Amino acid sequence: MPFKTKKSRLVTALKKRSENMIRIINNTFVLLTEQTSYIFSANPNGLLLHHYYGPRIPFIDVRPFEKKLHGGAGTSCLYEGQENQWIDLLDLEASFVGKGDFREPMISISHPKLGYTNNFKYQGYELIKEPIEDLPTSYDSNQTLRIDLYDDLYAIKMELYYKVFEKANVITKYVKVINESKDTLTIHKIMSHQIDMQASNLSLLSFDGAWAKERHRHSQPLTQGIYVMDSKSGVSSNKHNPFFIVKGESTSEFHGDAYGFNLVYSGNYTSIIEVTPQQNMRILQGINPYCFEWTLKTKKAFTTPEAVLTFTNQGLNSLSQNMHYFVNQHIVRGLWKNRVRPILINNWEATYFNFNEKKLIKIAQGAKDLGVELFVLDDGWFGNRNNDQTSLGDWYVNTKKLPKGLSTLSKKIKKMGLMFGLWVEPEMINEQSELYKAHPEYAVRVPGRTPSTGRNQLLLDLTNKKVRQYLIDQLSFIFKNAQVDYVKWDFNRNMTDMYGTTLKNQGEFFHKYTLGLYAILKELTKAFPHVLFESCASGGNRFDLGMLCYMPQVWTSDNTDYLERIYIQTGTSYGYPLSTMGAHVSDVPNHQTLRTTPLESRFNISCFGLLGYELDVKRLTLSESEKVRNHIRWYKKNRKTLQYGTFYRSDPTCFDANSSYFYCINNQKEKAIVGFYQALLHPSLPEDIIKIKGLVDNKKYIFTNIKQPINLSIFGGLINLVLPIQITLNGKIHRIICRLYHPKPEDDTYIVYGKTLNYAGVRLHQQFMGTGFNDKVRVLGDFGSRLYVINHFNMKKYRLKRKQLSRG
Ligand code: DGJ
Repeated sequence: MPFKTKKSRLVTALKKRSENMIRIINNTFVLLTEQTSYIFSANPNGLLLHHYYGPRIPFIDVRPFEKKLHGGAGTSCLYEGQENQWIDLLDLEASFVGKGDFREPMISISHPKLGYTNNFKYQGYELIKEPIEDLPTSYDSNQTLRIDLYDDLYAIKMELYYKVFEKANVITKYVKVINESKDTLTIHKIMSHQIDMQASNLSLLSFDGAWAKERHRHSQPLTQGIYVMDSKSGVSSNKHNPFFIVKGESTSEFHGDAYGFNLVYSGNYTSIIEVTPQQNMRILQGINPYCFEWTLKTKKAFTTPEAVLTFTNQGLNSLSQNMHYFVNQHIVRGLWKNRVRPILINNWEATYFNFNEKKLIKIAQGAKDLGVELFVLDDGWFGNRNNDQTSLGDWYVNTKKLPKGLSTLSKKIKKMGLMFGLWVEPEMINEQSELYKAHPEYAVRVPGRTPSTGRNQLLLDLTNKKVRQYLIDQLSFIFKNAQVDYVKWDFNRNMTDMYGTTLKNQGEFFHKYTLGLYAILKELTKAFPHVLFESCASGGNRFDLGMLCYMPQVWTSDNTDYLERIYIQTGTSYGYPLSTMGAHVSDVPNHQTLRTTPLESRFNISCFGLLGYELDVKRLTLSESEKVRNHIRWYKKNRKTLQYGTFYRSDPTCFDANSSYFYCINNQKEKAIVGFYQALLHPSLPEDIIKIKGLVDNKKYIFTNIKQPINLSIFGGLINLVLPIQITLNGKIHRIICRLYHPKPEDDTYIVYGKTLNYAGVRLHQQFMGTGFNDKVRVLGDFGSRLYVINHFNMKKYRLKRKQLSRG
């Protein structure tokens, strides 16, 4: 027997522990994560029954979990005439059409001769390694379980997959069906997962929106009825994100039960919640059956995207933290996993289509001087593209704008010490393009019909292998030639006129398009492993876990306005970590809202995300440049905490209050950063108190505000009340005074224990609201904000700093 070292004993113990995350006791399956249990079993009739999903509990035997329906059930039907098997009332783990369950079904497959009645019965199970499928999936689960069901008359095998992620408190599920009959079958509907449970006093949180208004949080009580959130536009969409939450009515950010659901998929999806009169609730999520019909030939298999489930009984922040951990550790992969992301400058809002090499170099040089690390050349560098009507598809450089080519520009940018990034929109084609002239059949359109356009463009047919190969070749050439370090992959129209020239069944178009896209992304990310890809679809029209498997970050929204971003980033944060959210400081008046907000506020919201700039740095004033330089310096020091720390939202959030805050705590719990955001200033606002959960109770911390300069001009005519002479507003003297004199900002510095921060919090200085001003008044005004830093308190360092300060 080999000698066992301490280390090998530890490894064995850990292995044993993780092996036990799935326990099987007499056909009952207990899936465990650190804090949750998920329990289901197969009954003697072959039905798979769901029993429990919630806080982790001990399990002895299944009887207390079983539904007892011995008194009959009105108009319900008995499954195969078996005693008590009122299938319409049972909590099922998998449902199907035609045997008496009249709720929304999980699966519907028809047989050419035998019709629409499915009957899947339990056959067995196996603990397996994570299988590799064509679809993007999560990775590094603790354990994977496969449950086998069989419809013996239709000869269809159905496999239910369960993956357990212990630390993330996540369980993922997906389904595979295999046609073992001699006939060709048709799949009409196939969801990735189903969960049936009791629904009393629950509400739904969904994240809905539109262009420039993505993922706003909406809440509604779940009473009897069918609730659907879905996408029919071909992408996961900005209308309803695939992520949603079912929570207790009184669950808040810090307390109560909540279930979170998401899908690793970027195409049309549906999320269905049905609540019955008996308060049974069924939740389904999967590919949208809209325009979907899949031909399943003999021996062929079909696999669904993976669904992601999490539960917490500690409120919505804890639910988000589960999802954030899961995305960072089990979705995002490759070189950029857990890596701090570069600060970028993007030329789009600075130049739109109107640029040349000189202009770009100036922007890049200016940005470099301020501390930026990556230059991104956006739309307009290729073909004949001077507006949004031409050239998509012609992926060769526009020599009028860049006569020396992309690689020369890239070299010059790199010589400055910046990384070089490039915008592409590969899935599209303009009718005015060389590609369209050569290959009109590459565009998606129904023969004989005039296609609808979106932003003057048509979609390329990614269901066609030739088109996919064309894109892989073109893009590989450009990425290599221009030595790109970063790619912004855009997608600016929804799908219409669905038709694939190589498809036999047009009911497969939407899903095959998505599979085609994934095939391209798989090739390119493999060939260019060092490239940082950022997914974009007119901002956040395709912000989902499918894209995040290939692209570690997403352009959250085209809307860069301070106020709008508070809602968008708060909504997005429920399901996705800050390490995925692109957030740029742009010019004012803002190009989407025409709103003017302070530069500090634009930075303060963008730093709770992946910081970038999207403006002409050359147009910044000297004092603005100095501010940006300081912001960037500060962000670099703190970005690890901001991008990968534990994130919390205040309660109430911006969706219920005029001001709100976020904070991130670093992994060692030695540092926290708080962003406080106000919409409008109103008189007699409630007092602002910052409470921080998650630090160490008995550790001392020093809480302090980042001092923000106050611009005197904010006081307007009030200046004449304090000056010995009267000056003309906005006149020369006024402007000089405003430039030279900055009132001392408030100082909110306190030494507090972690426990104090948690329960009592820190009361901030009163805001200016028309009744007096001095250096103990916080001037926020409309769209004002602040950053606070909380550091582990070190007496020695503190004394030293104070000494230095008093010495001047
Ligand atoms: C839409 C994107 O969201 C913008 O950031 C920009 O890249 C434009 N497309 C370019 O056409």
